[in-house]
Order: sequence, then C-alpha cells, then structure tokens
Amino acid sequence: MAEAESRQSWGTRLGMILAMAGNAVGLGNFWRFPYQLGKWGGGAFLVPYFAALFLLGIPLMWLEWTMGRHGGMYGHGTEGPMLYLMARTKVSPRSAAVWAGIGGMLALGVTILLNSYYLHIVGWTLGYAYLSATGDYMKSNISTAQYFANYLQNPGLMLTFWIIALLSLGYAVGRGVSGGIEKWASFMMPTLYVIGLILIVRVLTLGAPVKPEWSAIKGLDYIWHPDWSKISFQSALAAAGQIFFTLSLGMGIINNYASYLKPDDDVVLSGFATVGLNEFAEVILGGTIALPVAFAYLGPEGMGSGVGLSFISLPNIFRDMSGGQFFGALWFLLLFFAGWTSAVAMYNYLVALLEEDLKIKRVWASIAIFVVYILAGLPVALEPILTKTSDLAYLTEMDNWIGSYFLVVLGLVEVIVGAWLFVDRKTKKPATWKEMMRGSFWPTLPQWWFTVIMRFVTPTYIIILLVGTTVSYFKQGYIRIVPSFVADKPQLVPWVNMARIALIIVFILGFIEAYYAVRTKYAEEIKQNRVLVEK
Ligand code: ALA
Repeated sequence: MAEAESRQSWGTRLGMILAMAGNAVGLGNFWRFPYQLGKWGGGAFLVPYFAALFLLGIPLMWLEWTMGRHGGMYGHGTEGPMLYLMARTKVSPRSAAVWAGIGGMLALGVTILLNSYYLHIVGWTLGYAYLSATGDYMKSNISTAQYFANYLQNPGLMLTFWIIALLSLGYAVGRGVSGGIEKWASFMMPTLYVIGLILIVRVLTLGAPVKPEWSAIKGLDYIWHPDWSKISFQSALAAAGQIFFTLSLGMGIINNYASYLKPDDDVVLSGFATVGLNEFAEVILGGTIALPVAFAYLGPEGMGSGVGLSFISLPNIFRDMSGGQFFGALWFLLLFFAGWTSAVAMYNYLVALLEEDLKIKRVWASIAIFVVYILAGLPVALEPILTKTSDLAYLTEMDNWIGSYFLVVLGLVEVIVGAWLFVDRKTKKPATWKEMMRGSFWPTLPQWWFTVIMRFVTPTYIIILLVGTTVSYFKQGYIRIVPSFVADKPQLVPWVNMARIALIIVFILGFIEAYYAVRTKYAEEIKQNRVLVEK
C-alpha cells in the first residue's frame, strides 16, 4: 500500500496529456507514416487506416489507459503485474502469473529492443538537424544516399549524437515523471506542433519548382483522393500495423504512463485526446509535409521513396529549396522532438521495472538503463562500420519482429485479459467498462460499444492481422534461416542472427522477470491460489 501511495504522479492534467501525446507522437508519425502512405497508394492507404484507427486504435488505447490506472492503484507500472491483477479475477492466481510472464516478456522485448534501434534513429535526426543547420550536406557534392551511408559509417558523428540523445533521456527520466518527463514534454510537444505548422506553410507555398504538373498541392491530391482499386489486404495489414506503432500500442508504455494517474482520474476523454493529438500530428502534419514536398520535387516517383524518404530524398530537396538549410534543420528537429518524447516512455518503463521490482532508486535505475541501451544499441552502431554497408540488416530484422509483429501479439494478450478475463469477482460479469468509466469526463460512452467493439471486433481484427502478417512474412521470405533481404549478402547474415539471439535472450529474461516479480509480490495469494489482495 505504502508503495502505491509513494508512487510518482503527473503534475498537471495538461502536462500529463502532453506527455501522453509525446509518447504516441514519434518517428512513426513523421518518418514511418509518410513512406507507408506513399508505398500503399496514398488515399488508398487512408481507408483501411481509419478503419483500424476506430476499431483497433481507440479501443486498445482506452484499454491500455484503464489497465495502467488500475495497475497504478496497486503500485505497478509494468505490464506483467497489470495483466496479473486483471486475469486473476477470472482465472486462478497461478494461471494469472503465466499471463503476467507472457505480457512482461513482450513488453520487455519492445522497451529494450525496439528502443535499441529507435534511439539510433533519434540520434540520426539530431545529427541531421546539426548537419542541416551547418549546411554540411548542402555543400557536399556526393549523393544524399552516399552521404547517409557515410554518416552511418562515421563513428565520430553517429556515436556522438546517439550518446547525446541517450544522455538527455537518462537525465530527464532520472528527474522523475513530473519533474523530468512532463517538463520536457511540455516544452517539446507544443514546439513540435509549431514547427510542423511552419513547415506546412513552406510546403504549401512551394508552387511547382520542377515541372508544372508536379506541385505540393497535387501531392495532397494523391493523399486525399483514394484510388479504391489500390486497396488490398496487404495495405490493410500495413495500415493496422501503423496504427499499433503510431499510437504506441502493444508496447506497455501507454499503460506505464497511465499508472501515474490517480484512481479516479479520467481515462476516456484523456485517452481520446491522446489519439486526437497523435492523429493530427500524423495525418495532418506528417501527411502534409514529407510526401507533398517529395511530390513537388520528384513527382509520383517520390511517393515510393520508402525508408529513405526522410534521410535521403528530403535532404536532396533541401539542397535545392530556397531556405533549405533552415527548413531542413527544422524538419530534423521536429523528428528529434517526436522521437525523443516516445523513446523517453520506453526508457521510463524500464526504470519503473527496476524501481518496482528490484527496489533500485530512480537515479541509479536511469544510469543502469543507460548502460543497457548502450549495449543493446551496439550491434546497430557497429554493423555499418564493420560491414561497410548501410543495409542495416540487424535493424531490419529487429523491426520486422519487434516493431511490427510482437506489438500485435501483446495487443492480443491485453485484449484477452482486459476485455475477457477481467471480471467482477462476485457476479463474474465483465468489469472493464465500469473500471474504464470511473471518473470519466465522457459519461455517455455506451456499454454496448464496449461489448461489441472491445470484446468482439477488436480481438477479431487483431487475430486477422496476426494471421495475415504471418502469411505475408512467409511469402516475403522473412521466416527462413536466411531471410530474403540478406539472401544475396552473406556478410550480413550474422547480424540477422544476432538480432534473433538478442530477441530470444530478452524474451526469456522478460518472462522470468515478470513471472517471478508477480510471484514475489503476491506470494501468499499464489501459495493459496486465491485472491487475497484487493482494492
Ligand atoms: N508511437 C511512437 C511512434 O510513433 C513509438 O514513433
């Protein structure tokens, strides 16, 4: 009890909403979304995207806020104990501990491994903000693709910005939830929206710098006029995956932030506000900046720039654009703020885990996690340097599994436990809706909505997504000893294997950690195999 009472909490509602928005708004919005949008046919991508937003994104967001606030009441900020508390209302405490192990394993996977490469990208954005401001890549006469490859293979530059990013994160997390994270988010998030708006004005006033038929406004047409014939099952899978990534769902980090709420704080309207702020940043800002610029300079071909859009295609454009040095720096600063405020949530998850399970003081825990991230990020840093390539096989393998696949698995675990196993212990009726509505500023959300959407539609959607993704991974040759993307590059195979080994080790550790944390905290309850601790 004392533990729950001495827990940290958010300073103000506005600060909390900005931190939550920062958690969701990330590289996913400005780096991942535009190239997905380009790849899957612009407007044609937005149709399944909005379907997934309403049927997956919003319900899961509410569920994670509810789980988090519920866990926080018992002093828990991590996935395992949160799942345990809910599952034990229907299944025995011993079985609930297994759910805790599975959830803890997946969340540890994301917060260590996804962040291990995410932090590098955050570092690149800072590096590129600097190199834009100094005009370095503008002056250079090599291609921007080569420039990017050189950046990755230049330990001085790449390591410096990565470590600066990591140190600033460690410092903020060490200062605490309201004293660190909330303060930084309260500055970075409003600034990010202002930068986004400035960039939009620039984009929309570009005219048609290269060919009369290419203009930023025509680029917007591509985004907002869906070509229905381009919608496919594959694009629907990509759209649903994007919803998970962009809203930080299936990562354990929304729940973690929600655990710092008070027991009667609203979750429904606040969760909805998080989604709204994220979607504004993604669809309006993210959608109106990168792709229309690429369209104005590169025409329809620019739409297929893929992962290189932010770091290769756009720098090329900044070289040409008047004021490109300034706008380039703003663009990368925006990416940096976005990435930083999400990476900090993953960092905080791990610090909360050390604080709560190993009773390590926050400052020390922040230092320990700094070391963990350095170690976990080393393969990403070393691969381009040692192999003299910029294929990033380690990062690709990790992103395929942890950044795209296991998030969805954790989403499924959460919806099973949160919407099916969490019941009122006396009546055995589902307890989620009541828990979610406590203190709600939005009292009209009907219960049928919960029953139909959260209990049936969302899990079905997730299962289709998982099966579809598995089949598509098979077809694309990702589920092979030597996956397709390194088939003709034997020197990269060890990096893929390293990613797999890291994943297995972290999963094993994650399961053991969460399972035993629960078994220790609820020892008596598990021994007797019946619920004893209840609030
Ligand atoms: N939600 C975060 C992002 O979009 C992880 O990057």
